[in-house]
Amino acid sequence: MIDLHKGDCRNILPQLNRRGIKADLLLTDPPYNISNEAGVITRRGGKFGKTTDISPKFEFDHKIEPEEWIPLASKVLKENAVAVIFLAVQQVPAVMALLKSEGFEKIYLSAWVKPNPTPQARKRKWCTGLEHFVIATRGEKYHYNWKEGHHTGYIITPAVSGKKRVHETQKPLKLMTDIVRWWSFPGDIVLDPFMGSGTSGVAAVKYRRGFIGVEEKLKHYNTAKRRIPIYLPLDFFMQDSFVQEPAKNKTLDSFQQ
Ligand SMILES: C[S@@+](CC[C@H](N)C(=O)[O-])C[C@H]1O[C@@H](n2cnc3c(N)ncnc32)[C@H](O)[C@@H]1O
Repeated sequence: MIDLHKGDCRNILPQLNRRGIKADLLLTDPPYNISNEAGVITRRGGKFGKTTDISPKFEFDHKIEPEEWIPLASKVLKENAVAVIFLAVQQVPAVMALLKSEGFEKIYLSAWVKPNPTPQARKRKWCTGLEHFVIATRGEKYHYNWKEGHHTGYIITPAVSGKKRVHETQKPLKLMTDIVRWWSFPGDIVLDPFMGSGTSGVAAVKYRRGFIGVEEKLKHYNTAKRRIPIYLPLDFFMQDSFVQEPAKNKTLDSFQQ
């Protein structure tokens, strides 16, 4: 199952809940709200150049607080679900507290290690080569795929750059596939209320999980809609329901023509 929605997740999640939909894994990368906290973002052109406001470039990172969507997403998750949420370090205490109030008990802090961090505007600062995510589990029977073996808990993979990038803050596929493989099983349903270009969905279908994704911007929704089906395993199309049976009044020969 692939179920994609264009809209604000604060409206779509209650609709999914009313339809009785329940996912096994919440895997999401919401806006971090970094630019709003920092106010106007500036860059100096050249060594002594003019300061320029580059805030519009960061438009994608608009404000949505964790308490506005975590309780809504929680209602679309099974009792024994796992939640994996990318976040800024400043948000860790608030997100952990919210997850606890939604019944998630064990919580791990993990990291994506980027060997190619974005250079700072003035090229003089300490780069941020780490992004964090929390993994939280609810109930005793949550899905941890021990068959995948040992995992370090951090994932080293480069940020997507150049022509391969289809979203301003696109996550690399290796990052999302590690999470999907270790924290769900084939046949499970993965939910992403902030899917962007749909990298979580690509990881889900590639490893035979179902996917429910929400994105409010049409451009990104269309990218996800185009991207995700490309990764469906080929034998998916060979299931019985896709093989056309000869109609009773036709011979096999007439089908082969
Ligand atoms: C950090 S990006 C996700 C990028 C994604 N992980 C990828 O690999 O492409 C967050 C996305 O959430 C979307 N978004 C922001 N607020 C939203 C909301 N209230 N409902 C649904 N989508 C929203 C943004 O348009 C943006 O595409």
